[in-house]
Amino acid sequence: MGSGEEAVEVIHAWSAPRSLSTSLMYSFAQRDDTEVLDEPLYATFLKSTGAARPCREQVLSSMEADEEKVVKDVIFGPGRKKYRFCKHISKQRLPGLPSNLMKKGKHFILIRNPLDILPSFDKVVLPSFFELGLAELVSVYSDLCKLGSPPPVIDAADLEQDPEATLRGLCEDLDIPFQSSMLSWEAGPKAYDGVWAPWWYKSVHESTCFAKVRKYPMPFPFGLYDLLEEVLPLYNVLKHRVKRSSNLLKSPLPPPDLPVPENEKLLAWVGDEILPRDSAKVSVFDSVVQGGDSVWEGLRVYDGKVFKLEEHLDRMFDSAKALAFSNVPTRDEIKEAIFRTLIMNGMFNNAHIRLSLTRGKKVTSGMSPAFNLYGCTLIVLPEWKPPVYDNAHGITLVTATTRRNSPNNLDSKIHHNNLLNNILAKVEGNNASADDAIMLDKDGYVSETNATNIFLVKKGRVLTPHADYCLPGITRATVMDVVVEEKFVLEERRISLSEFHTADEVWTTGTMGEITPVVKIDGRQIGDGQVGSVTKRIQRVYKNLTHDFGVPIPTYERS
Ligand SMILES: Cc1ncc(COP(=O)(O)O)c(C=O)c1O
Repeated sequence: MGSGEEAVEVIHAWSAPRSLSTSLMYSFAQRDDTEVLDEPLYATFLKSTGAARPCREQVLSSMEADEEKVVKDVIFGPGRKKYRFCKHISKQRLPGLPSNLMKKGKHFILIRNPLDILPSFDKVVLPSFFELGLAELVSVYSDLCKLGSPPPVIDAADLEQDPEATLRGLCEDLDIPFQSSMLSWEAGPKAYDGVWAPWWYKSVHESTCFAKVRKYPMPFPFGLYDLLEEVLPLYNVLKHRVKRSSNLLKSPLPPPDLPVPENEKLLAWVGDEILPRDSAKVSVFDSVVQGGDSVWEGLRVYDGKVFKLEEHLDRMFDSAKALAFSNVPTRDEIKEAIFRTLIMNGMFNNAHIRLSLTRGKKVTSGMSPAFNLYGCTLIVLPEWKPPVYDNAHGITLVTATTRRNSPNNLDSKIHHNNLLNNILAKVEGNNASADDAIMLDKDGYVSETNATNIFLVKKGRVLTPHADYCLPGITRATVMDVVVEEKFVLEERRISLSEFHTADEVWTTGTMGEITPVVKIDGRQIGDGQVGSVTKRIQRVYKNLTHDFGVPIPTYERS
């Protein structure tokens, strides 16, 4: 080391082409403690691949092309400043480079959405999977993770939206002080530009900062649509690793806490595949998106068995038939999807399944089932879910002004996903700080709550409303049988609200919440305000049924 040169600490910036990497190099070049190197691996890349470039000869004659030398002498060689910023294009990281390239220095990754990269690709080099190098960029990330230091990842969109916040965050992650000089540079060619600058740096030479050039995007070149589909998942892998995004891009809401944190990592069935929670999505063309055009069931899993599975499937097939769905999967196919999903999740107890069958994806947006040419979409969403109500102490209800759908307009016997009728009532319940809301029928008689069926006890007799307006619940049917078997008198008839206000006991039924005592309705205490003896008896028998019966999940072995 001579002439004042010292060992430098190298900052490796890895990116795909057209990702603002040259602007970022200009930004780092403004620091008083940093020198920059423009694509030191370019000549080794051209030599090894034989890739054609208009500047090929100039690069090979002016840059070091020997792998050992370029890493040892150029990238890690001595310098005059504390840091050396190396701009690396990921595809230039070919096999055969010395391993200390990845082991030494501070690394970070700069990504850009291929939707923005592809329209700005030059005519000089045609974009391809290889030329984009996004697969290699993911490999850079995973190699650095394997070496024990996951690199910071920044997104070019954040640099454009809020350069200062993004650069400050990056500097913090790299453990170097931020310098405000990084925010602008002079226009025109730079001494440290690669010799290829005349071909590629025309627009970056016009820039003086990261300011967004365009308010609106360029039209996407549809000839590159297939390539976009290939590389977008790779960008998304890295996008999930972006630690900080600028305030402008950040969601206004903080990440929410899940009611059951174990559900953060679960697998769901969508269509014909099992996917992780965040990837489990339906098409924007799906009927459930287009019109809530779907049917559903909620099922519970107890001790390695799915309770009342056949009854839920019967109701699902009836609902699908009533809505005139076609290309409905078979009972066996649906059962297989349920079992496979539960087994993969290891969910054999204390779990709930939200099973949906949509009319399927449409060939174009619109209402008509004639557009449904792909068949139905099956969704099996399992979650760890303890019963959702306080079944030991009871809940409070209020009566909603929203009336339950009548068979005149939308028959509640169809268990469809068009749940706005119930959701509006639930909003009323929430506004009144109640656990749920009672819904009346068009004549003012009680039908059910927004989510459950409802029963009352008066002088030893058990009453529940006719299933004219309410969903004919499977738990309701089970409980009606239990009531008779336990030798109570059961009446199924129209019941007015005042009969509920003055009942001795009230409970609700549903798969999700099981048997739930109600201790207050519209401010009136029910009975003595405690869980009644009949309710407790029905709860006990129901618990035994869920323990003893159900369709076994294959492969489950009780430990
Ligand atoms: C409106 C409504 N009522 C009642 C129920 C309870 O039905 P089940 O006992 O079949 O779960 C549900 C459950 O989906 C519901 O959505």
